[in-house]
Formats: sequence, C-alpha cells, structure tokens
Amino acid sequence: MANSWINIFFVILVFSSLCYSCCCYSSYTIKNTCIIGSGIGGSSVAHFLRLYSTDSTISIQNIHMFERNEVVGGRMAMVKIGGDIFEAGASILHPKNLHTLNFTNFLNLHRNNDPTSSDSIDSDDSSFGIWDGSKFVFKTFDYNSNWSLVRKIVSVFNSFKLFFRYGFSLFKMEKFVQNAVGCFVKYYASFESRPVFETIEDMLKWAGLYNLTTRTLNEELVDAGLSPILISELVTVITRVNYGQSVSMSGLAGAVSLAGSGGGLWSVKGGNWQMAAGLINSSNVALHLNEEIDSISYFGDHYELNSTKGNSYSCDVTVVATPLDEVNIRFSPPISVPDRNLQHTHTTFVRGLVNPAYFSLNSVSEIPELVGTVEAANIPFSCISVLERYSEQDMTYKVFSRAEMEESLLDQIFSVRKETIRINWGAYPHYKAPEVFAPILLDRSHLYYVNAFENAASTMETSAVAAENVARLILSRFSGQTVSILKSSASNEKGLHIDL
Ligand SMILES: *[C@@H]1O[C@H](CO)[C@@H](O)[C@H](O)[C@H]1NC(C)=O
Ligand SMILES: *[C@@H]1O[C@H](CO)[C@@H](O)[C@H](O)[C@H]1NC(C)=O
Ligand SMILES: *[C@@H]1O[C@H](CO)[C@@H](O)[C@H](O)[C@H]1NC(C)=O
Ligand SMILES: *[C@@H]1O[C@H](CO)[C@@H](O)[C@H](O)[C@H]1NC(C)=O
Ligand SMILES: *[C@@H]1O[C@H](CO)[C@@H](O)[C@H](O)[C@H]1NC(C)=O
Repeated sequence: MANSWINIFFVILVFSSLCYSCCCYSSYTIKNTCIIGSGIGGSSVAHFLRLYSTDSTISIQNIHMFERNEVVGGRMAMVKIGGDIFEAGASILHPKNLHTLNFTNFLNLHRNNDPTSSDSIDSDDSSFGIWDGSKFVFKTFDYNSNWSLVRKIVSVFNSFKLFFRYGFSLFKMEKFVQNAVGCFVKYYASFESRPVFETIEDMLKWAGLYNLTTRTLNEELVDAGLSPILISELVTVITRVNYGQSVSMSGLAGAVSLAGSGGGLWSVKGGNWQMAAGLINSSNVALHLNEEIDSISYFGDHYELNSTKGNSYSCDVTVVATPLDEVNIRFSPPISVPDRNLQHTHTTFVRGLVNPAYFSLNSVSEIPELVGTVEAANIPFSCISVLERYSEQDMTYKVFSRAEMEESLLDQIFSVRKETIRINWGAYPHYKAPEVFAPILLDRSHLYYVNAFENAASTMETSAVAAENVARLILSRFSGQTVSILKSSASNEKGLHIDL
C-alpha cells in the first residue's frame, strides 16, 4: 500500500518535471498583450498575432485593445449626410493592397469598385478640372451619355486632351509609380525570403524604398524627366487630394499618393472601418471602448497601463497603434521619438449646390465633378468633389482644405447649403525630406510602435504592412533564438537617444 503511494508520487514528480521542461524549452506564453488604438494598425496586429502564433512556439493568451473613442476604426469612419453615408476618412485602396484585399475576403466583406462613389481621379465618366485660383488650366470634356460607346469615345478624347497638355511625361510618371509599387510588393514575400525588421530604415532599405524618403517628390520627378508643368499641375493636384501637401513632400509618400490616383481603386462596401471591426471580432480581443490610456510604466517584467477611467492593466507586451504626436501618454521611463507634425485635413461635406459664379462660370454643369487645385496661396481648399448627384440642383460634395472652411467662404463657393458637416482629421504626417523615423521598439524591451512607419507613407495598407512586421517581431523576440538580442539591448537604453 505504502509502496503504491510512493509510485504515484514518483509518477507525479516525473510528469511535472516533464511538463516543466516542455514549458521552458519549446514554448512561451504571452499572457497579456495590450494594443492601444483600434484602427487598421491595431486590429491588424491582433489578427497577425493570432494567425502567426498558431504555428509558433509562442502562445498568445489575452489581447486587450484600448480605444479612446466609442467606435473602432481610427481614421476609417463614415459620415451620414442627407440620408446617405460616405467614407469620411481613409477612402481608397489600391488593387495591389494585398493585406486589405485578404482581410476583405477573409471577413466576407464586399468590394466597391463603383468609380462614382470613390475618389478616383481617372474614373472614365467623371469630369475633372484643375483650378489655379482664377481659371481652370485643364478641364476634361464632360458628356454624360447613356450609351457606353459614346462614353468610351469621350474618355479617349479626354486621354488625348491630357496627353496634349502633358505629353510623354505622363508615361514617365507612370513608370516612377510602377517602380515604387514593384518595390513595395516585396513586403508580401514569404517568411523565408523576408526578414523581420527592427527599424523602419532597415525595412525600407531592404525593399529599395529608403532613398525615396531622403529626397522630395519634386527632386525625384525632375530626375525622372517629368515636365515642370506636369509636376506643378497634375502631380500637385494628386498630392493635394491624397495628402493635402505639395510636391515638396518626400518622394516615397509622393509615389504612394500617385499610386492612389491610378486605376482599379476600390473600397469596402459599407465602409472600410469594417475591416478593423471584423479583424477585432475574429481575433478574440477584449475590446475596451471609450477608454484612453494616459500612462505606460515599465516595471522590468511588465508594463502597467493606466487609463483615464482609473483602471490599471498589467501587460507583458504593449503595442502603440496610434500616432503619438497628438496624444498625451506619459511614459515611464520616458521614451524618445523625433518630432513629427501631423497634416490636418479639414473635410467638409455639403449637401447643396456649388456656385458657378465662384469659378467665373455660367452654369453648374460646367463645373467638373472633381475640382483639383494647384499650389497657390489664394486657393482656400485642396479639392472639391461630387460624392452623389441627386439631381442637377441637389448634390453632396466633399471638400478638403488645410484650414477650417469658414461659413462666409462656404457661402461664396456654394449657392445652396442644406447640410454641412465638418471633420478635422489629424490625417497623416506632414512629409518632408529627408524623413526621420521613430523606432519600432520604443524601449528596446516590449513596447512597440506601429505608426513609426507612417513617416514612409500613411495608408490603410501601409499600416497593415507595418502591423504584420510588428506581430512577427513580437513573436520572434520572444522565441528562444533572439533572447540574446533582448539581453544585449536591455543595457543599451541610453544608446537609443543618441541614435535619435
Ligand atoms: C439615361 O437613362 C435614364 C434611365 O435609365 C434616363 O432617366 C435618362 O433620361 C437617360 N439620359 C439620357 C441623356 O438619355
Ligand atoms: C492572402 O491570403 C492567401 C490565402 O489565404 C494567402 O495565400 C496569401 O499569402 C495572403 N496574402 C498575404 C499578402 O498575406
Ligand atoms: C541609395 O542611395 C545611395 C547613396 O546615394 C546609393 O549608394 C544606393 O545605391 C541607392 N540605393 C538604391 C536602391 O537606389
Ligand atoms: C463576429 O465573428 C463571428 C464568427 O467568429 C461572426 O459569426 C459574427 O457575425 C461576427 N460579428 C461581426 C459584428 O462581425
Ligand atoms: C497607475 O495606477 C496605479 C493604481 O491606481 C497607481 O498606483 C500608479 O501610481 C498609477 N501610475 C501612474 C504613472 O499614474
């Protein structure tokens, strides 16, 4: 009897020591991963952590996500005006945006390729003009026919018109964009051929994109042989539409902006924010809405996150997935990121009718559906586009501007205004060249920053690409082989400040 008790005791001992060795040699559990921000960056980190940990030795237990607003989606949001809803923030996706394409398929969402409901510049049947403050320097011919052959002819005619003004430079512009896109798709390569990156600089250099961040778009395009008139007109219109900035922005952000004016652009039917909502829902995330994190303190083995609600959370890994530029999070010990200004884009939605007199025209029908603008101090907006045409007298417009549109200004531009909605977005960084990058590893331990990539370019897809790398980085830094990196960098916190 006594003997059998000893046997059981012995068996338990053997089992528990076996179990002990499993835990420490081949697996590790990250108990609490905390993500700040529920936009495409934060939701993608959660998604890729779950996806990649299934065949990793690291197991991810709880994922907490903190969102200071009452809805998820970050800078992807809808606006309701005149009974219809439209994208209010991040609107367009490129056909080669493979992560967002995958999210859309994986989540059973549908794509919206209807050019009239996107901001596509080159959609065949929407008219386009470039306003220089006193006249239209370029205007497509507008003839809305029900007959597709006629529409095709009009579209070919407009291509000739474009070619007549800008010539072969248009092909050089296309080549410049194709080169950049060709480099960018390297980020979709398999794990075997694609390293995990610890800095944005390494990430960009590996893809061959880094040099584009060291010079302005203007410098790059002059070198690529584009004519000055193409740069100051069409290219400027596009950078103003997509980033609210001039061609003195960095070459990479400029290339991304130009890619966002090409063909085949799409958006998610019902709203791009559903990608974030769907990824959060499918990634088993504890979502804390209306909860703003105001301090992150590191205690050697965990982070303590305090929220403005008075709650305190203990996290093994903390991922910042919101731009740090305009939030007030106290870090202890302090972190150091380079100064960065966000470009604010004031988005004004108007249901009503634009005033032809403002453009020195006689009738509304002469005003292009997309009015782009050149860089001139006296133009108070970046672009005006028709989102929906209810009748010839009743439309919904979207206006982008760098400053808030005053009532008196709107009264000049619009003859009828039934409803006006203003949104002030801290939309993307104000790009400059050479660009400087914040670290991905904010403290050389387990505090990660997804939005460091935004200085390269800021789009839904680039956020997903940056998030995918962060998810891989977290898993690889916790797996045995990189323990040495952790140790050596822990004593190196001061070095970070010198690098910056
Ligand atoms: C085009 O078709 C719609 C109905 O399909 C019709 O109401 C409209 O008058 C037509 N427009 C022209 C220019 O023929
Ligand atoms: C998209 O999903 C497909 C199928 O699941 C996968 O093979 C492919 O690698 C994914 N693409 C990216 C960029 O992750
Ligand atoms: C980037 O610029 C450096 C210095 O001008 C040059 O040596 C390097 O070849 C360039 N890299 C690429 C990919 O063009
Ligand atoms: C959340 O995901 C479940 C399946 O995991 C699905 O049935 C449900 O419809 C999703 N809800 C939303 C709001 O996406
Ligand atoms: C966070 O909250 C805890 C518990 O309320 C408190 O002891 C601690 O001082 C707070 N930390 C900071 C940095 O405010």
